Amino acid sequence: MSFASPQVFGAIARIVHGAGVIASVPQEVQRLNGARVLLVSDMGLQRAGLVAQVTDLLQGLDVAQFLDVEPDPSLETVRSCAQAARAHRADLVIGLGGGSVLDVAKCAAALVHNQGDVHEYLGIDKIPVAAVPKIMIPTTAGTGSEVTNVAVLSLKAERTKKGIVSRHLLADCALLDPELTLGLPPAMTAATGMDALTHAIEAYVSRFAQPLTDYFALQAIGKLSAHLRIAVHHGTNLPARQETMMASLFGGLAFGSAATGMVHGLAMPLGGQFNIAHGIANAVLLPHVMRWNMVAAMPRFAQIAQAMGQPVAGLSPQDAALQAIVAVEHLSADIGIPRWLDDLGIPRSAIDALVDDAMTNMRQVLPNPRDVTRDGLVHILNGAFRP
Ligand SMILES: [Fe+2]
Repeated sequence: MSFASPQVFGAIARIVHGAGVIASVPQEVQRLNGARVLLVSDMGLQRAGLVAQVTDLLQGLDVAQFLDVEPDPSLETVRSCAQAARAHRADLVIGLGGGSVLDVAKCAAALVHNQGDVHEYLGIDKIPVAAVPKIMIPTTAGTGSEVTNVAVLSLKAERTKKGIVSRHLLADCALLDPELTLGLPPAMTAATGMDALTHAIEAYVSRFAQPLTDYFALQAIGKLSAHLRIAVHHGTNLPARQETMMASLFGGLAFGSAATGMVHGLAMPLGGQFNIAHGIANAVLLPHVMRWNMVAAMPRFAQIAQAMGQPVAGLSPQDAALQAIVAVEHLSADIGIPRWLDDLGIPRSAIDALVDDAMTNMRQVLPNPRDVTRDGLVHILNGAFRP
């Protein structure tokens, strides 16, 4: 981090949050002059009644639905969703769901007026024309996608994941209602919560960290340490849901400008090659990447330990930093996250291909606090298998 270079903090224009704020969707649509709305969600949320809940609120508007978003959505899904948006002549897109739904909804909104194939927009700042207005409504507390300029998509043939980064992916409004997460099952709560924790920790030790992202990152780390266990094991506890949703938001605000590092850099090929859920991949890798990165950001890891409530007074900087890893491992164990890559069915023979792919993820290689080397990544992955 250097103060000689400009530090930029980007954030979306409007965040509406609080228990019950889903009721204000009509006003938010009206603010953005939406009349022909495409509601993007998935079949699970339809079964849970959330799609009907939002559709009922939008009576009087011309609303079409696209509910065919799968976990780890493909480029094909984005194409289909964009086609639905164009066919409906949508002037506003609502994303209602977890990270997969929100990423597809953001891309579809951008593709209404950009006629190229989604493949052409992979990478950084490749989308030329502004999106139609979009409102993002998360139903998990983890992704942060509602406030970021990123969408991550699966390239099925290449068995990998790649991101689209563009200011045109930023939502016009994020609407965060913790009541929407009250029915989220424990395993999903745990995985998405660990994704949020990974965003915050990676943003805090990032080379692009800065005071604004530091604030949100440390707040997110503290909130998740204090409340994620309760959200997992007492799912209807609204205060815990509220705190974890705010932590997810704060994590998104932190990594939206500070970026993520090699936990995400390795989790992407793990997801792409083995269909491991993003939050689980992150959670299993997190302590191992932290251990490898620690030497490059010792004081920062000590501060993470402190934010997680570990007793660091009187400890050496190294011992204090190690406490951050202890805290992460305890949290993971308490919420039922698998410990080793073996537990996910990954063979050791996969290491080379995972590392080859990860080395190409420059969005994660460059911000990582320790210079990323092939040997380093092999070392990390070897350590993530059961000894
Ligand atoms: Fe993530």
